[in-house]
This record gives sequence, structure tokens and C-alpha cells, in this order.
Amino acid sequence: MLNRRDLLVQMAGTAGVVLRPSILGDITPDGLRDIAARRGLVYGCAASTFELRDAEFVLALAREAGMLVAEYEMKRGIIEETRGVYDFSAGDTLLAFARSHRMTLRGHALVWHHKNPSWLEDALSSPRAETLLTEYIAKVAGHFKGWLHSWDVVNEAIAPLDGRPDGLRNTLWLKRFGPEYIDIAYHAARAADPTALLVYNDWGCEMGAPDNDRFRAATLDFLEAARGRGVPIDALGLQGHLAAFGPQVDQKKLAHFLDSIHAMGLKVFITEHDVYDADGPMDIILRDRAVADSSRRFLDVVLNHGATIAVLTWGLSDRFIDPPSLRDQLIGRFPRQLPLDTSYRRKPMWNAMARALSS
Ligand code: G3I
Repeated sequence: MLNRRDLLVQMAGTAGVVLRPSILGDITPDGLRDIAARRGLVYGCAASTFELRDAEFVLALAREAGMLVAEYEMKRGIIEETRGVYDFSAGDTLLAFARSHRMTLRGHALVWHHKNPSWLEDALSSPRAETLLTEYIAKVAGHFKGWLHSWDVVNEAIAPLDGRPDGLRNTLWLKRFGPEYIDIAYHAARAADPTALLVYNDWGCEMGAPDNDRFRAATLDFLEAARGRGVPIDALGLQGHLAAFGPQVDQKKLAHFLDSIHAMGLKVFITEHDVYDADGPMDIILRDRAVADSSRRFLDVVLNHGATIAVLTWGLSDRFIDPPSLRDQLIGRFPRQLPLDTSYRRKPMWNAMARALSS
């Protein structure tokens, strides 16, 4: 009976992929997905279809991830670039890949103020504009009905610094429909796909600064009020974008916040975890250690809380991160914010996540 390592080597051989010794050495029976599953959790990551053309990356992805989310290919700017013309090809490719590798797929994101098609803003000024929201959600969530684990229905709707009493971000959606756009979106998503968990996804609740205190308070008020109106939100998505050399997570404040979320009966996803390291020293060992420490500090809190069901990183390997500034490129400083390096080798962040997932 082949063990997982030998099976992967055989698969690679069959696929004509020559695994460098460093990769062979790194293959252990357990990926993050196995470690997470032993605690009834899911680990996954964001991916894009162009990454799936790299056979060596696919081996690492299949070993480590139990769930995928489209980094950008299931956003409206890609799906409905031309009004009324829906292109699901990328999402379907990611869904097929996930299913063939025993993974689940998350949807991201039905309603956001970024990455919208160029025609949308003008179209919103028409009298029957609400159908631009409801018909899109019905079409897209309907297309993937029954196949997705969850949807980020509304993404990043909170911004206390915008100065509204309700703490909402003053987006094109809010300007056109008022706060009701959120209720409309979640009810439309629930009607289109009753099987998917519906998630509210945002950043800003993780750190311990006063702005984050305000963000956490606004998020609790928003979720409490929405649930009180019967808005079908099942979970909060904490994006988990951290900074290794910036403000850090306040573990007590975060734990207390998660208690409040849990008390509402909501689940928690960590949806886009990565640790920005651009402000650190050139020394890779120091940067990797600081990234790992930040990740562990955060995950120790969220993973030891009964509400958390899944952790996804915003990519798996540093290889596919958008290139840094020209200055950083010239001095040879490239981002190291994800569990695997550019050669798909496990980094201290991988070890920190493995320990947090298994502790
Ligand atoms: O590389 C393709 C190119 O081949 C293609 O022709 C072109 C067509 O638009 O797209 C190129 O891809 C770009 C992609 O980044 C490259 O990674 C997309 O244009 C560009 O929109 C995309 O930006 C994404 C951004 O959201 C907007 O969609 C980033 O990848 C993605 O990391 C970022 O993710 C957001 C989350 O959705 C929400 N939370 C914050 C997070 C980080 O900004």
C-alpha cells in the first residue's frame, strides 16, 4: 500500500513532473488540511486559474488545502464584464478542480465596491436599478447553487471613518439604495442558494488600536441589528490581513469580540489570512520569524474559539503575490506573507499555522 508521500511521487512521475529533492523532502503525510480536519476545522486558500497551470503548485495545493476561494475570478468585474453577459468559466474551472481534489469552494464576492464592471455605476442611476443587485445575485448564486460551501455575500460594507452613525461605508450601493441594499442582497442570496452559508466579510476587527475598537463595535452593532431584522447572515468572515512589523493583534480584545459573535449564534471564518512583511528588515530569517509569530498570535485566539470553522490564507505560496514596488524589487526584497515560499517549501509561517491548528 503506497503511503501519501510515495503516491504523490508516483502521481508527479505520471504527470511528467520532476520533483526537486527539496520538494520531496518537504512532503510529509500531513498537509494543513489534514491537521485542521483532525480538529473538525477546514484549512484552505485563495487561488486563481492561472496558478493551476503549474503542476508542481497543484501538488502543493492538493496536499495543503481543503477549501478554495477565487482570489478575483468570481467577482462581478470578471463574471459580468459586459452587461447581461455572464462568464462563469473561471469559477467553473476552480469548482471542478476543487471537486476533483476533495476540496470545497467558497464564493467571493457577490456585492463589493471594488472590481465592478465599468458600466455598473452609470446603470445604477436608472429607475429600476434594484434588479441590478437582485438579478445578478440570483443569476450567479443560482449558477453555483448546491456546489458552494459559502458565499461572501456583502464584502467590506463597514467603515466607521466614513462618519455615518451606523458605521457603514459610503459605497455606490449605499448611495443608491441606502442601508437596505444589505438586507436585499442576503435575502436574494438565500433564495438563490439555500444550501450555502452566507457570510459577511470584512477587515478591521483584528488589531488592538482605537480604530479597531471602533470597527469591532460597529461590526457588532451591524450584525446584531441585521440579525434582529431577520437578515440571513450565518457567519462573520474576518479577513485576517496582518502586519508582521505593524500594530499587532490584541488577544484579549479579539477573544472578547469573538465571544460576542458566538453569542449571536454566528460562525466565524478567517477568510483572507496573510501577514504583510514589507516594513521589515532585509534578513529573511527575521522576517519569516516575525510573520510566523504574528500569524500564531492571531490564530491561537481564533482557533481556540468554538465559533471558528475555517481558516483560509489569501494564497498559498509567495510565488503568486503581486510584485512589490520597483524599489523593493531593485533591492531584492520580495513579499514573504504566506505559508509556502516561491519554491513551494514550507516556511516558519506554515509551522506556526500547523501548531495553531493542532494545539
Ligand atoms: O493577471 C490577470 C490578467 O491575466 C488578466 O488579463 C487581468 C484581467 O482583469 O486580471 C489580472 O488579474 C488581476 C489580479 O489581481 C492579479 O492577481 C486582476 O485584474 C485584479 O483585479 C486582481 O486584483 C485582486 C483585487 O482583490 C481586486 O479583485 C487581487 O488579486 C486580490 O488579492 C484582491 O483581494 C481583495 C479581496 O477580494 C477583498 N479583501 C481585500 C483583498 C486584498 O486587496
